[in-house]
Amino acid sequence: MTESADAPSLHRVIGIDIGTTSCTVAVWDGSRVVVLPPTPSVVGQNKAGQVVVGQIPAAGRESAVAGIKRVLGSGEQIRFRGRTYRTREICAFLLIELKRQAEAYVGGPVYDAVITVPSSAGETQRRALREAAGLAQLNVRRLLDDTVAAAAGFGADRPGTYAIYDLGGGTFDAAIVRIGPGGVEVLGTAGDPRLGGDDFDDRIAEFALRQIRERHHVDLSRDAHIRRRIRWEAEIRKRELSVADSVTLDLPVLTATVSASVPLSRRGFEAMIEPDVDRSLDYLGAAMLAAGVGRAAIEQVLLSGGSTRIPLIRQRLARYFGLTPTDIRTDLDPEELNARGAGLIARDFESAPLFEGMAAGLLSGNLRLRAEMADPAPEPPISEQVPDPAAPIPEPPAETPADFRRVAERSHDVLSTGPNHGHDALRSAYLGFVRAVQAADADARLAELGEALTAEFARTDDAAGTCP
Ligand SMILES: Nc1ncnc2c1ncn2[C@@H]1O[C@H](COP(=O)(O)OP(=O)(O)OP(=O)(O)O)[C@@H](O)[C@H]1O
Ligand SMILES: [Mg+2]
Repeated sequence: MTESADAPSLHRVIGIDIGTTSCTVAVWDGSRVVVLPPTPSVVGQNKAGQVVVGQIPAAGRESAVAGIKRVLGSGEQIRFRGRTYRTREICAFLLIELKRQAEAYVGGPVYDAVITVPSSAGETQRRALREAAGLAQLNVRRLLDDTVAAAAGFGADRPGTYAIYDLGGGTFDAAIVRIGPGGVEVLGTAGDPRLGGDDFDDRIAEFALRQIRERHHVDLSRDAHIRRRIRWEAEIRKRELSVADSVTLDLPVLTATVSASVPLSRRGFEAMIEPDVDRSLDYLGAAMLAAGVGRAAIEQVLLSGGSTRIPLIRQRLARYFGLTPTDIRTDLDPEELNARGAGLIARDFESAPLFEGMAAGLLSGNLRLRAEMADPAPEPPISEQVPDPAAPIPEPPAETPADFRRVAERSHDVLSTGPNHGHDALRSAYLGFVRAVQAADADARLAELGEALTAEFARTDDAAGTCP
């Protein structure tokens, strides 16, 4: 490949990591893999009823479809927008959006991708993913097992035998791999397509519902909207527990008479997920058995997937293998790793000038799905993209809704006490939210911006915790 220093040549075969909670595109830019910001794996609709992917407006969230990876190829019919979709069509919406993002980044058409798939996926699921890619007009150059993607993402810097422990939002994959000069050789795998961070959120939510039942004598577990709110809060507090010893689930005005605040300690959370962690270690054992490799042969454990940020998991792995914590590799972002690996493997393939799929119906299917989708949001004007870092940060206005008061105050603290650079995304989310409060925007809009701020705050907090 030829390249000049000032004009990197963007490779037009992209890497795509399809996750239960988020999807990520990676592009080789001629000298390194660029991982684009993740897109939530959620397909919903806007006010006009058009399909949107990723950030769903508050009004379209109730009917949004999440976690399609777990059911892909299952034959399940998905009710959405008043009609029935096949799982591969929902997955195709995600892929069409990811293809668009890649094309915007590359500055031209993209027809080729290396796409990750759970190592535990069967033939039906792999076929469904290929068909979804076809509906998105993408040539699948390779379906890459999640664990191989993770190993490739780490880079074969040292030959040896490694265990890969990939625990994301919805699926768990364990693998024993040998990394040598020739690349990654998978010796054995095992996993569970239904084990991940989503289950941990459920455990916390069940706990909170029980606490509420005991204290307020009401059972809110059958109200889907309330459950969703509690799970949302549970996910944020769960991330905080990876760096804090205790947290409080803040659940104001669940009903006209019930507001709850539920304390949760890290020990309490660990006890809730212990059986899940045990189960993951059983799969690891099964992968070693399949590989014919004993624990002593494992030199390092490579961690992938956001849930491996949970300290208990790292401790249990070190104990299981008798390794020191430094042999549990945490040097790369576990949420980016598989996309990074897919992007690296994608370098080996030539891009095609066109979509090559010949199967009948793919083009018409693509046209139909694209016609159902909203046009991509126009880029905001530059002045809104990067707020002036020198401008003073206003306090949260008095009218800030109670649901978001705390996160607004904490964001304000971070932004006004930290260095006046960095945190661009948090600043932008905070200022957008404050502006909407000042302008007395509609509740739905405030909720949407408040939730975006909460997510951004959690990310910032997370980054501060992992790189002190
Ligand atoms: N700091 C943290 N502590 C605990 N859990 C975290 C943390 N950060 C992220 N997570 C969890 O990681 C999960 C998302 O991880 P990731 O993006 O790797 O999953 P995914 O690739 O979408 O899913 P999968 O690979 O399982 O299909 C979510 O459940 C999220 O709550
Ligand atoms: Mg993943």
